Amino acid sequence: METRENRVSVSFSRGIFLTRFGSPLEVVEERAVMVPQPCVGEVLIGVELAPINPADLNVLEGKYGTLPALPCVPGIEGVGRVLEVGAGLGVAGEELEGKRVLLPHGFGSWRSHGTALASELVVVPEAVPVEQASMLRINPATALVLLEHFVELKPGEWIVQNAANSGVGRSVIQIARACGWRTINVVRRAGLGEELRAIGADAVLESSEDLGARIAGITGGVPPRLGLNAVGGESALALAKTLAESGVLVTYGAMGLQPVRIPNGLLIFKDLAMRGLWISRWYKNATLSQRYNLFERLFHWASTGVLHTPVEAIYSLENSREAIAHAMRDGRGGKVLFKG
Ligand SMILES: NC(=O)c1ccc[n+]([C@@H]2O[C@H](COP(=O)([O-])OP(=O)(O)OC[C@H]3O[C@@H](n4cnc5c(N)ncnc54)[C@H](OP(=O)(O)O)[C@@H]3O)[C@@H](O)[C@H]2O)c1
Repeated sequence: METRENRVSVSFSRGIFLTRFGSPLEVVEERAVMVPQPCVGEVLIGVELAPINPADLNVLEGKYGTLPALPCVPGIEGVGRVLEVGAGLGVAGEELEGKRVLLPHGFGSWRSHGTALASELVVVPEAVPVEQASMLRINPATALVLLEHFVELKPGEWIVQNAANSGVGRSVIQIARACGWRTINVVRRAGLGEELRAIGADAVLESSEDLGARIAGITGGVPPRLGLNAVGGESALALAKTLAESGVLVTYGAMGLQPVRIPNGLLIFKDLAMRGLWISRWYKNATLSQRYNLFERLFHWASTGVLHTPVEAIYSLENSREAIAHAMRDGRGGKVLFKG
């Protein structure tokens, strides 16, 4: 007879717990806990991979837009397999068993096992590489919304972004190329030009100095209408100054920890619009069909190699501090992931 014990071969699961906010290396501890049992309408998921994103580090520090109640298991996104189906799901539950799914919002992905409502799951096609699947829900989704939500871009139109070597930045480059838009990419260090051009960047600039003139040289004098800012401070101002009249600067990250300061004249005489994006809010407000459409395209691009985020290292949950220290390093060549 099939029992829970032979379907789920382990009785203990592991998780990284956050009990207080503070320095990311000091506030996490790895613990063993019982494998949770799915309630009515829920499934048990065995986590495969979960990345460490900048937003996760902000949560550990207690410096994010919304903070979880403590103690909690951090981890904003990830991917896993449905191991067991709770009561009340009928045929829909049977269909979910064994499927790879995106971990839903609030799951806390830095763990080996967890339960979730079946209704919140998005099934991942097997053609999507598991590493890419673990990182799709936040950064590539953000990139797609940044490119489509604020300015109706025409074929061949230029956009400009900073932090272009980030996960989001690379997705912007790849999606823009797939959709027929052109990107000018500002990075903060030398030596990335060849790599970013190889994934579809049209231009890579290693500093924001004299940005307007250099962009005019690249675009033949046509200023971009969309600027994407994940840094703030002087870098954001440099982007704003290059934009066309009534252009839009969208701020979605604050890696430089400096506020966006825009001279009055850019607002009065150029009518620039300052917008922001938080992908969690987009998901909350999106209709089912908007979400479905977004995932369908991301899965297609990830399974065909159009979208690819490099991974620098994969750590076990037992090595949480080492993993977090690695994710905090400047000049990484890719994302740091936890293996569930
Ligand atoms: N609003 C949203 O919904 C949303 C969604 C996703 C991400 N984000 C934000 O987007 C940003 C990028 O996230 P990610 O996961 O794509 O990042 P990531 O892959 O971890 O890479 C971080 C990038 O930031 C660059 N960077 C770090 N400090 C910097 C500084 N002081 N000045 C300029 N660049 C700096 C790094 O440059 P090097 O390559 O030179 O080290 C690296 O390219 C983060 O701020 C994140 O919170 C926001």
